[in-house]
Amino acid sequence: MLVTIKTEDARIGMFVHAVAGGWMASPFWRSQLVLTRTSEIRKLRDAGIGEIVIDVAKGVAPEGAATAVRAMDGDMAEVAAVVDDMPAARPRRSRRSAEERALDRAQATVDASKRVVSAVFDDVRLGKAVNVAAIAPLVEQIAESMTRDPGALLAVTRLRTKDEYTYIHSIAVAALLIHFAHHLELPEAQVHDLGLAGLLHDIGKMAVPKALLEKPGKLDPPEMAVLRNHPERGHALLCAGPPVPEVVLDVCLHHHERVDGRGYPHGIPAARLSLPARMSAICDVYDAVTSNRPYKCAWSASDALARMWSWTGHFDEDLLMRFIDSIGIYPVGGLVRLRSNRLALVIEGNDGDPTAPRVRPFYDIPQQRVIAASDLAAVRDVDPIQRAERGAYWFGDEWPATKAAVFAGMIANARAEALEPGAASSFQEASS
Ligand SMILES: [Fe+2]
Repeated sequence: MLVTIKTEDARIGMFVHAVAGGWMASPFWRSQLVLTRTSEIRKLRDAGIGEIVIDVAKGVAPEGAATAVRAMDGDMAEVAAVVDDMPAARPRRSRRSAEERALDRAQATVDASKRVVSAVFDDVRLGKAVNVAAIAPLVEQIAESMTRDPGALLAVTRLRTKDEYTYIHSIAVAALLIHFAHHLELPEAQVHDLGLAGLLHDIGKMAVPKALLEKPGKLDPPEMAVLRNHPERGHALLCAGPPVPEVVLDVCLHHHERVDGRGYPHGIPAARLSLPARMSAICDVYDAVTSNRPYKCAWSASDALARMWSWTGHFDEDLLMRFIDSIGIYPVGGLVRLRSNRLALVIEGNDGDPTAPRVRPFYDIPQQRVIAASDLAAVRDVDPIQRAERGAYWFGDEWPATKAAVFAGMIANARAEALEPGAASSFQEASS
């Protein structure tokens, strides 16, 4: 059965039969496909396709969405014939209700995962081997939940008590790594290994006294030394158990390394840090700072990403930009590229919809010119963000001054003046 829905209501698992405007307008090379990734849904939306026709006999049916059950024109007469025979559309359910159902599903996934993870981890604390066979199936369940509704799963994992912190943190890092790996379009086998690595990256904490893990306040140097031993303890535990993929061992040992070589346990420089190690360092910290800890309240996603971006030497910056893209929440002060091929500064968050912040476009990329433009609020509807950009790439050492000028709104009075990327001095003059 073919049904026309708004692109914004597309979900993972739907079978796309056709798109409005025909396949010339489609961002995909295939004529029909099953949506398996959020990035595919984003591609449809970013291509400006307002509606798609799905086959509910071959994939997931619309749920709680504003399903416009009607035919499309032209060569979509076949659709019209089918739709005419359809029963009346179900009453529209409220968005809140759909969100509640998504949260319920995510909560069930996290609860089931937590039971397995806590049992396996507690056994390790008692001296048993790591039961990898019990934990591996969780990867598929978490992956399925993340592709269905990543926001719900991450929201659910943020709520954790101090005694369940390590279990939930492991589930959350697995979810973030899976989501990040899908965004980077890594092979499925690697996605799976990264999910398993997320679940097991902190297994070494089972060799750290519980009182120390749950201690409120800062640790003294000897206590910190014990805690910082957990990557090596975890690596040893995994090596002593049944075989695990190399990626799992790598992430367990290196998720606290930094690109400036000042991480632990080995202080490995960026050139020798693998992609999984660099990805896991980002996901590990992001989850830690966006969840409530015994001694610290959570930061918002936007604050967390802004602060992580400001920590020089900690993360692979290019990878952190891609992570921000994968989360879809652009921090205030970040540089982004809009669909109109303009560079814009994120100037204000949006509590109602963190994925649609207020931005200030100020630079036209094709024309290489500074522009005077008013702020955009509903960027997703008008001129959506395509991706994060690195300010230093476009404006070199002048980026901090450039950003300050745009923030101050001085660009609004500037002459539209040619500006070569990497040579921002003329921009500064225009905005001073
Ligand atoms: Fe850790």
